[in-house]
Amino acid sequence: MIFERAAVAADHGLASAAGVEMLRAGGNAVDAAVATSFALSVVRPYSCGIGGGGFMLVAMRDGRSVCINYRDCAPAAMREDFFESDPDAFASLRGGKSVAVPGHVAGMLHALARFGTMPIARVLEPAMRLAREGYEADAHYESSAKEVMAWLDGQVGRRERFGMLWDLFLQRGLVRAGSRVKLAGQERVFAKIASDGLAGFYEGEVAAAMVAAARRDGGVLSLDDLRAFRVREHEPFVTSWGGRRVLSAPPPSSGGIVLAQVFAMLESRGDELRAIAREQGHNSAAYAHLVCEALKHAFADRARYLGDGDFVKLPIDEMLRPERLRAAAARIEMSRTQASESYGVAEPVRDDHGTSHLCVVDEAGNSVACTETINFEFGSLVGVDGFDFMLNDSIDDFVTRRGVANAFGLMHDGQNLPAPGKRPLSCMTPTIVQEADGSCFMMAGASGGPRIITGTLQAILNATVFDMNADASVASPRFHHQWSPDTLQLEPALLETSLRDALAARGHVVTKRAPIAAVQVIRKHAKGWEAASDPRKGGSPAGY
Ligand code: GLY
Repeated sequence: MIFERAAVAADHGLASAAGVEMLRAGGNAVDAAVATSFALSVVRPYSCGIGGGGFMLVAMRDGRSVCINYRDCAPAAMREDFFESDPDAFASLRGGKSVAVPGHVAGMLHALARFGTMPIARVLEPAMRLAREGYEADAHYESSAKEVMAWLDGQVGRRERFGMLWDLFLQRGLVRAGSRVKLAGQERVFAKIASDGLAGFYEGEVAAAMVAAARRDGGVLSLDDLRAFRVREHEPFVTSWGGRRVLSAPPPSSGGIVLAQVFAMLESRGDELRAIAREQGHNSAAYAHLVCEALKHAFADRARYLGDGDFVKLPIDEMLRPERLRAAAARIEMSRTQASESYGVAEPVRDDHGTSHLCVVDEAGNSVACTETINFEFGSLVGVDGFDFMLNDSIDDFVTRRGVANAFGLMHDGQNLPAPGKRPLSCMTPTIVQEADGSCFMMAGASGGPRIITGTLQAILNATVFDMNADASVASPRFHHQWSPDTLQLEPALLETSLRDALAARGHVVTKRAPIAAVQVIRKHAKGWEAASDPRKGGSPAGY
């Protein structure tokens, strides 16, 4: 959709509308992003929200840009061997132990204080209204609910153990598209934040309820952890692609670095990439193969070297050294894929269906790309009684058992072991692509675990290499490779073409995956801004 002056693209139309309400009332992109984010907490309660955290990338037209890191962190009682001897294979993924200290509310208040123009009480109004009046669950809500219901039904007692989830969000197994969801408890949390700021969430009744919920289910979250939570600000991670400046999230997200490595490798095979695009076309076997081979190098490095830079030394210079990236790109063979061990850019360094993405651009051209999560659908499954929200299970993004992949199949090295206050490595990739004068060319970001990075990458490549409009950039079928496991995933529309056989002939193990990420994009247009929310998640943009 094209909007002349300002736009918001979230993965739910009501959340996009919440942001536009702020823009129309004179707010800027950050006011709108915060309003959208709180609204998502209500309408996508299984994806993100006040029980989770994220990264907000802000680029103001006056030249200020920052990545606000409110990624959840490990409680003080969580050491690196916390899960090693736990007999429950799901302990880091479901239940009280999987809960990290939520950062969302601190992040929103920080963003608003630094860049916003409106009082928190005004920015919270749309979310409070949605929570009070309720909304209709959509098809995506129904399918997320069904997935988690299937897991609950896998063992006797799980419905009772996660009773708040079962009663409220799953409506005792009856929730369907069209069912009304009202979250009066979440409205009470918003009212406390509106009147008491940080203390309304990190102290008092709400804090006590979060701690009680996590501990009742074996967790270690404490009131001290909540009081100690601090937002971090970073310089955006800056790289380039096709002559444009790309801003993205730095560690503890891996998104910016993986994008930078892939862009550098594709640039060094640029003539070939352009010839493939011209002669063989979008999603041809040669195109998918080249991009996947670059992704395999980057994801291998991600697994080996990345973690929270506040706790471990990250060999970022080595990972981005141009000669090494050129050498890795040169090792890509177009006729075949190679053994897993041959991927990676950096040398070993000795010393050393949740989630939601939103984009906002305001009338002044300020831009915000923001990705947030409670990790898996409905997070830890632990609900906060009386306050109608779910606590995250972000702890599973750490390596919780050495040598064992996490729930996204991602392998990690010791860099990403848990430690008190440490943030788990993330794939969240809020990204802003700027023209030489600093104006926004496009914004992109996604949900979908490791597919966040590949979804964001493909949306940017679709727009820049294939000159697709925002709708096509988002809707086109996608592929995914994350190095480990060594499988190349295709969405069904690609699986049904000759692409599958052509990739298999190059040695790829090709599997089906639907969907591969849900991406939101806003892109500059001759008449203003073009905004697209991914049809895979049923979202819609808004603007004027
Ligand atoms: N929980 C998804 C991510 O941060 O990578």
